Amino acid sequence: MNFDEIIPRAGTGSLKYDFGPERLGRDDLLPMWVADMDFAVPDCVREALLRTVDHRIYGYTETKEDYARSVIGWIERRSGYTFPKEALVKTPGVVFAIGMAVQAFTDPGDVVLIQNPVYYPFREVIEDNGRRAVSSDLVLKENHYEIDFEDLERVIREQKVRLMLLCSPHNPVGRVWERWELERIAELAERYDFLVVSDEIHSDFIADGHTHTIFASLSEQVAERTITCTAPTKTFNLAGLQISNIFITDRTLRRLFIKRLDAAGYSQANTFGVFACKAAYDEGEAWYREMWRYVQDNQAYFREFVARELPQLRVVRSEGTYLLWVDFRALGLSEKELQRLLTDGAHLWLDSGAIFGSCGRGFQRFNVACPRSILRQALEQLKEAVQGLSPAADR
Ligand SMILES: Cc1ncc(COP(=O)(O)O)c(C=O)c1O
Repeated sequence: MNFDEIIPRAGTGSLKYDFGPERLGRDDLLPMWVADMDFAVPDCVREALLRTVDHRIYGYTETKEDYARSVIGWIERRSGYTFPKEALVKTPGVVFAIGMAVQAFTDPGDVVLIQNPVYYPFREVIEDNGRRAVSSDLVLKENHYEIDFEDLERVIREQKVRLMLLCSPHNPVGRVWERWELERIAELAERYDFLVVSDEIHSDFIADGHTHTIFASLSEQVAERTITCTAPTKTFNLAGLQISNIFITDRTLRRLFIKRLDAAGYSQANTFGVFACKAAYDEGEAWYREMWRYVQDNQAYFREFVARELPQLRVVRSEGTYLLWVDFRALGLSEKELQRLLTDGAHLWLDSGAIFGSCGRGFQRFNVACPRSILRQALEQLKEAVQGLSPAADR
C-alpha cells in the first residue's frame, strides 16, 4: 500500500482531471474538487475485478445472501449495529437513491428539509423532482458547525416538512453528529411525522476521538421512518462502479421505494460494482485503515501549513469525511475575486462554497484524499497566490 504513489489520471475520462476545458474553459488547474480519491484501490478489489473481466461474460448479475452478509458485516464491525438483511436494496448510487426516495415518499410541491451548506446534489435532486428544498442552515460557532434546533423546529413546523435529507457525517462541513443531536432530530421526526433519508456515505471517515452513530440505530421506531444510504464507493474509491446499499427497515416504505426503482427501469446492479463491493468489505479492512490514517495525516498537514503560512485562512474543525472546509472571508474578496485568485492565481480547481448554499459564500471545499506531494503542491500554489494579493485598495 503506497498512498504516496502518483498515478496519472489525466486522459482516463476522469471527471476530476479531464473536464477542465468543458467545465471551466481551461486545462491548467490542479483538481481538488469532486470527492473521489487519487489512490489505487486495494489489491483484493483489483483481483476481484480481474477475475470478473477474465470470465469474459458480463451478463445480468444478482446477489444472494452472502452479499448482504458482507455489507451488513462491514457496517456491524464499524458501528456495532446490525441491519436486517431483508432491509437491503441496491441502487446504482446514493444520489439516485435519494431521488427515488423523494419520488416515493413525497408529492410534487412538498417540502424536503436540508441543512445548508450541504452537498449540492441534495437541493438539485429535490428541485429536479418538482419538490421544494428548504434549509435550516447550520451555524458556525467556534470554528465548527452546529444545528440551530430552534430554527430547525420552526422550519419543520411552518413548512410542513415531509422528508429530511440528513447528511451524516456532514459534507462539506465535516461534522460527525453526536448521538444527542441525532436523538433531537429523531424526536422532531416523530413529533412532526416526517421521514428521514440519512446519507451515511462518509461514515467510514470518522476522525480519531469521534463516533459515528447510525441514525436508524437510535431505536426501532426511528429505524421505521429512516432510509439509510451507504456505499463502498467513497471508502474504497469505486465511484465509477456505481453501487450503493440502501437500508429500509419498514416493509411498506421498502415496497414503495422498490416500486420507484421498478418504474425507473432499474433492476440488477452493475456486475463489477457488486464484486468490487463484496471484495472490499470482506478483505479490504487493512487497506482502509492505512488509507484513513494517511488521509488524517494529510488533514493535519493541511491545517499546520495553513496555520503557519496562510494565517488569513481558517480551516473549519473536521470530525469526519476526507474533505476540508476552509474560510477565506478574512481576505475580504468578492466571490468573483476569490474565484480569480484560486484559478488565475493558485491554478487550483476547488468546490466553491457558494454551490453548497448561499451561507457557503467565502468558503472553499478541498478534497485531501491524494498523495501528500500533490497536497503540498496545491498548498504552495495557494500560498504564492495569496501572498501575491495586492492590498484591497488596488483591486
Ligand atoms: C454526501 C454525499 N452523498 C452522495 C454522494 C455521491 O454518491 P453516489 O456517487 O453514490 O451518488 C456524495 C459524493 O460526494 C456525497 O458526498
